[in-house]
Amino acid sequence: MGFRPAPPRSLRGHGPASNVPNQDLLGSRGTLEEVEMRILVTGGAGFIGSNVVDGFVARGAEVAVFDNLSTGRREFIHRDARFFEGDLTDPAAVDRCLAEFRPEVVDHHAAQIDVRHSVHDPVHDARTNVLGTLTLLQGCTRHGVRKLIYASTGGALYGEARFLPATEDHPVNPESPYGVSKHTVEHYLYLWKLLHGLDYTILRYPNVYGPRQNPLGEAGVNAIFIGLMMEGKRPSIFGTGAQVRDYLYVEDVVAANLLSLSAGSGEILNLGTATGTSVLDIVRELNSLMGLELEPIFEPARPGEIQRIYLDASRARRLLGWEPKIPFREGLRRTVEWFRATKGVPA
Ligand SMILES: NC(=O)c1ccc[n+]([C@@H]2O[C@H](COP(=O)([O-])OP(=O)(O)OC[C@H]3O[C@@H](n4cnc5c(N)ncnc54)[C@H](O)[C@@H]3O)[C@@H](O)[C@H]2O)c1
Repeated sequence: MGFRPAPPRSLRGHGPASNVPNQDLLGSRGTLEEVEMRILVTGGAGFIGSNVVDGFVARGAEVAVFDNLSTGRREFIHRDARFFEGDLTDPAAVDRCLAEFRPEVVDHHAAQIDVRHSVHDPVHDARTNVLGTLTLLQGCTRHGVRKLIYASTGGALYGEARFLPATEDHPVNPESPYGVSKHTVEHYLYLWKLLHGLDYTILRYPNVYGPRQNPLGEAGVNAIFIGLMMEGKRPSIFGTGAQVRDYLYVEDVVAANLLSLSAGSGEILNLGTATGTSVLDIVRELNSLMGLELEPIFEPARPGEIQRIYLDASRARRLLGWEPKIPFREGLRRTVEWFRATKGVPA
């Protein structure tokens, strides 16, 4: 287990990890090139998880995916990854996977991700996101997993921002059961390290977009607008369209997961661009990229929708050597290209 020295081309510029890394997970010089370890990615058939799997496999890691395919797709799973089909809330399925694959690191992306669904059915949301994760944590303890990387949310956890860009010290005021369940797990991770020595890095994602994204996720608006506009239909905007979010391209998220294999021990780290992009900005960029001039349809504002959130990621820059690389327009261009090529489904 460990890393071979010298960062790969695609990670150069992210810089070496600057905090005290977990020596057990590092090669002699503590930098990333080839990843020589077994990594289990839960939710690895989903949008972000499958991109993370591709990143790990590309660096030589032995990778397995645990997923119930509720929103994920079998076709997104890298052909070199082992696939365990199962539900996070099923202790026997989780146990079987961990016992057979014996991962050193678990990268935890499986979740109920639909914010609106969490409002209608908070019990189902908590069952997957809280109880399912607890089942996974118990399995990690039983099977000697060293570290868990957790895909948390910055977009759905701070509530209406009191200051911007929001740092990790911003008050936590989730405005949905989804935000509560995702945040609850952060407490369990702190406790699990204390009680059982399971190392962790918590990555609080903003609104992630890119190839394979689905309309349900926190950056679903991009997928919805691209789908409609590809068919020449006008996108609907709820409210004025001035509400802003922090959109991060999925490749930048993959880079943060790679860096978290060897750094960020016991840390909560925002990822983000520190820039707010409005819904109107998205329509404008998409019109320009797709050579269209579609006027949005304005619908009544949705009550309780957060108006402004974007994240300060200086702690991730300091501790992981991470920073976003893909500008919004370029990320959106690649996303449109993917939707055009696949119509949102794999070829
Ligand atoms: N997309 C975003 O903008 C965003 C922002 C913040 C945090 N996140 C987090 O990132 C992670 C991945 O989100 P995504 O956008 O890729 O969503 P996704 O729906 O594409 O991926 C979730 C995956 O988990 C699987 N899954 C769901 N319930 C499961 C269960 N009970 N057992 C096993 N597998 C299960 C699904 O089949 C799917 O493959 C989630 O934890 C989400 O909370 C996403």
